[in-house]
Amino acid sequence: MCERPISVDDDAAGSAGFGRTPVWNLDRLRAETIVRVHVAGLDLLLIWNDGDAVACDRACPHEQADLALGEVRGGRLFCPRHAASFDLRDGAINPGWPSPPLRLYPLRITGEQICVEVRERQARRHTPVLPDESE
Ligand code: FES
Repeated sequence: MCERPISVDDDAAGSAGFGRTPVWNLDRLRAETIVRVHVAGLDLLLIWNDGDAVACDRACPHEQADLALGEVRGGRLFCPRHAASFDLRDGAINPGWPSPPLRLYPLRITGEQICVEVRERQARRHTPVLPDESE
C-alpha cells in the first residue's frame, strides 16, 4: 500500500490506519539520517544506518528522551540524555542499562518510498508525546 507519497506534515500520516503506510522518501532519509514520522498515531523515527533504513520508537525506552536528538554511529543509536546506545539491528541496549530494548518496526522500500508496518496492538499502546524541539 505504497500508492502515494506523504510526508510527516500530511495529517493523513497520523491516521492512515494500520499496515504498510508510506511515510518518507528514501533520498531524503539518506540526506537527513534521522527523521521523525507519525504512523498510525505513533511517534517514530526513520534512521539511515550503514546503507539501510531502520524504523524505531522516537522515545528512549530508558527514560523517554527524544531519540531524534541522538546520534547514529557504528550501527548504534546513542541517546542524547544518558548516552546509552541501541543496536539498530535488533534494538538491544548496551550492557548495564536497566531498560528494555528499543522497539523496531518492519519496513519496506518500494521505489523511493519507505513504508512502515505498524500493527493495531502497537498503535493502541500508550506512547509519550514528545515536544517538537526543532521548532
Ligand atoms: S533516557 Fe535514554 S538512556 Fe536514559
